Amino acid sequence: MQFNYSNPTQIYFGQQQIAAIAKAIPPHSNVLLVYGGGSIKNNGIYDQVAQALSDHQWQEFSGVESNPTVETLDKAVEIVKKDHITYLLAVGGGSVIDGSKYIAAASCYAGDGWDILTGKHKVKKAVPLGAVLTLPATGSESNKAAVVTKKATKDKLSFLSAHVQPQFAVLDPDAMKTLPERQLINGLVDAWVHVCEQYITKPAQGMVQDGFAEALLKNLKQLGDNFSNHDDDAWRANLMWSANQALNGLIGTGVPQDWATHMIGHELTALYGVDHARSLTIIQPSLLRNQIEFKRAKLEQMGINVFGLQPTTDLAERTIAEIEGFYLSLGVATRFTEHGGDKTQVIADILAQLESHGMLVLGENQSITLQEMQLILESAIG
Ligand code: NZQ
Ligand code: ZN
Repeated sequence: MQFNYSNPTQIYFGQQQIAAIAKAIPPHSNVLLVYGGGSIKNNGIYDQVAQALSDHQWQEFSGVESNPTVETLDKAVEIVKKDHITYLLAVGGGSVIDGSKYIAAASCYAGDGWDILTGKHKVKKAVPLGAVLTLPATGSESNKAAVVTKKATKDKLSFLSAHVQPQFAVLDPDAMKTLPERQLINGLVDAWVHVCEQYITKPAQGMVQDGFAEALLKNLKQLGDNFSNHDDDAWRANLMWSANQALNGLIGTGVPQDWATHMIGHELTALYGVDHARSLTIIQPSLLRNQIEFKRAKLEQMGINVFGLQPTTDLAERTIAEIEGFYLSLGVATRFTEHGGDKTQVIADILAQLESHGMLVLGENQSITLQEMQLILESAIG
């Protein structure tokens, strides 16, 4: 174990915390409020934000879509440059926050912002940003990552930079009250897979990381099993905090990480519009079965410590069945059946995209080659 760790995002957690942005954003800032398709206009969040910004100079940019596109975000970049915006406030889910991270970085770069996603430009500077979270799922509100899509070419790529990590994040569980059930389930499942990507790898004797990951998995399982309580304040607060902790960097520090499910899943979203979380549940069970010999020890540990299974020789196999059963209990598919098109063509198209994005070997062991990805996809695509 050897690492540098810091999570500098100030978290304002709890009901009525949106008011805190009045003080969290420096007083003389010129603020751009960034949001999505308008859900914040229907649930009072926009009004609370406007109230909190009443002593600030501000304007707004709306229309950031789910799986935000560079085509839309570049319009905001123009505004930031033209109007000398000095602070970005992202109000929404992962898409709005990720989109704002891109805007923050691309606004400080003279070239084509897409260079940040391809790695041609390394971010050295960004407009400071804060976030008001309305959908717990991605952890984007207090991490360095952003995922952006280029609509024209169906490329969905990510970048990481400490410069775009939000300076503060407001997590008010009341903001979740208007979330459709589909999005709530997506959030729960995405957070669950984030923990898995940092935990179902190989044993590394990270007692803190493993113990914390197991606590998060048990929480998320319990919240999923009690989904009918999702209108309860404690249910909402616990999902919001669990999803944040799942991907704020802590549990993955100093231990191996996988992320292959995410990399393959991103292609499913980019090509076929599958919701991010649902792309993961389609890929992950097949990927775990494909990689079972590498992951057996951690799957067995998860079976005992998270699912309470008895040790047997097929414990790892039963743990995967429990994971799959959890998704199915939430009504989330574990095979890509909605497409209905030519399966061979779908697999070929996904593999071609993975190859063009340089995803030639994935996983904590670099054992998921394109051949293995093909086998995983053959099993995942119904
Ligand atoms: O557009 P609005 O009006 O905001 O509506 C959204 C959107 O339609 C709606 N919504 C959000 N909060 C709501 C609400 N509706 C009613 N009431 C509320 N309180 O929900 C829909 C989905 O929102 P979106 O932001 O797209 O979802 P999510 O938070 O799941 O974000 C997904 C994006 O994050 C990326 C994904 O790839 C995807 O692009 N990820 C980002 C990560 C990161 N930065 O670390 C890691 C993740 O693994 C993930 O890849
Ligand atoms: Zn995710």
